[in-house]
Amino acid sequence: TWTTDAFVEESVREIRGRVGTKRVLLALSGGVDSSTLAFLLHRAIGDQLTCMFIDQGFMRKLEPERLVKLFHEQFHINVEYVNARDRFLAAVAGVDDPEEKRKRIGHEFIRVFEAESKRLGPFDYLAQGTLYPDVIESADTNVDPQTGERVAVKIKSHHNVGGLPKDLRFKLVEPLRKLFKDEVRKVGRSIGLPEEIVNRQPFPGPGLAIRILGAVDEEKLDILRDADFIVRQEINRAGMYNDFWQAFAVLLPVRSVGVMGDQRTYAYPIVLRLVSSEDGMTADWSRAPYDLLETISNRIVNEVKGVNRVVYDITSKPPGTIEWE
Ligand code: XMP
Repeated sequence: TWTTDAFVEESVREIRGRVGTKRVLLALSGGVDSSTLAFLLHRAIGDQLTCMFIDQGFMRKLEPERLVKLFHEQFHINVEYVNARDRFLAAVAGVDDPEEKRKRIGHEFIRVFEAESKRLGPFDYLAQGTLYPDVIESADTNVDPQTGERVAVKIKSHHNVGGLPKDLRFKLVEPLRKLFKDEVRKVGRSIGLPEEIVNRQPFPGPGLAIRILGAVDEEKLDILRDADFIVRQEINRAGMYNDFWQAFAVLLPVRSVGVMGDQRTYAYPIVLRLVSSEDGMTADWSRAPYDLLETISNRIVNEVKGVNRVVYDITSKPPGTIEWE
């Protein structure tokens, strides 16, 4: 029978056997897959592992700082923090179309990854959080005809784009390749990954950039980050974080009239998106308590400059998607 302890022990042995004294690179996103992978590799090979965390500027408030602190200071895992905020902002400047936005972010990710891996390298292996469902349709990897090993020609990021240039074709280490998502969580937990990561709600690779409809700029990012922070705070305060598949805010690029004190306002609306789901393929809008909705709405309108209205999305998936872009 499958036990997490046996899996961890076996994987550690396998990784050590495979990697020897060589160096391994891992692109850390902060999600449960890449974090579990980082913990597992760190246990196996310690400082031969380098994690690269690329800050696109589209994460939630305080998340990049927290992630780096957690991995680096608390768990002593090598993390290279790459501040690429300006580059990504420039890459999406003025881009309205959701697919184009995703594409540009994905390509920028590959470019930054390429440059940084050269700067920090050389590395012999690339660790990827490939899971069993990914292996089944593994169009993103080739087998090296000489060695029979799986070689990365694409990096599996949450962006699903981008071929790697020839000189960056790492050999792959994919210790999670036989696992399903719920097993990854169990493994993560058993090797000490904090609950906040094990239970983290899904967060899209392009992050807040696809939760600002239309063109993204710094002002809108600041507004959305603050609104989103309040949503998370109040949901945690209500003890409901695990009651939602996802709970987040979306910023619409239109303005409506409101009144505050005796002043007329003309500002952006925030959409609250709270859903329940099993796997993200279908979802139900959550019948969240009115009190919770009220607190969130009051706080956002009072505390976030640039917002004067909060609306609640009552669309399920299908026909709506979970994200708005
Ligand atoms: P939708 O919006 O299609 O989302 O109902 C389904 C699930 O997928 C997540 N999602 C993404 N995850 N990169 C990701 O890693 C992406 O580009 C992306 N787009 C959507 C979404 O948050 C939801 O959990």
